[in-house]
Parts: sequence; C-alpha cells; structure tokens
Amino acid sequence: MPRVTYIDTAGKETTLDIDIGTSVMQAAVLHGVEGIVAECGGSCMCATCHVYVREDQLAKTPPMGPDEDAMLEGTASERKPNSRLSCQLVVSPEMDGLIVYLPETQI
Ligand code: FES
Repeated sequence: MPRVTYIDTAGKETTLDIDIGTSVMQAAVLHGVEGIVAECGGSCMCATCHVYVREDQLAKTPPMGPDEDAMLEGTASERKPNSRLSCQLVVSPEMDGLIVYLPETQI
C-alpha cells in the first residue's frame, strides 16, 4: 500500500498506508488528520482540502484538471505552485512516499 505523509504547520507528521484508488483527502478524513476539512466531500467544489505537495514530488501526482485549477483560486491559504486539492490526488503506486504539507487554514 502506498504511504503518504501529512505534515502540519507545527511540524507534526502523520503517515498513512492508503489503498490504491483512495484519495489523499479521504484517507486523511478517515484517520482524523486535522487540517483537511473537505466540506464538499470530494466533489472539487470547496477547496477546503488544500495541500502543498513537496515540490520535488509534483511529478508523482496526477495532472491537474481545469476544475481543480479554478477551485484553487479560492483557497483560504495562499495558493502556491505546489498547491493541490487532496480530493483530486487519488493514490496510485507511483505516489508511494508522497509528502504533503497542510496549509495554515482551510476556511
Ligand atoms: Fe471539496 Fe476537495 S473536498 S474540493
């Protein structure tokens, strides 16, 4: 199972083994990782599942679609070049070892 590590703004790390096909958002919510709100439940309509992907790992992640790109314009914390919506990061074997940083706020 691919492993994904979430790091919050205080530096607290949570590493989860995630089933292939589950999103980085879904796994976080299921395991109570604080800092992912996911108000819309993964429909790419809220931008409260915002994460920053470690920059040297961006190539591991699936390409960004136009809906995600548009939603990222409305994040509560600053959008950066490595910003993604974690509901759109569906875990694949290539994503093993992925590290995502949680933003300061989602709302
Ligand atoms: Fe709403 Fe990701 S959970 S956009």
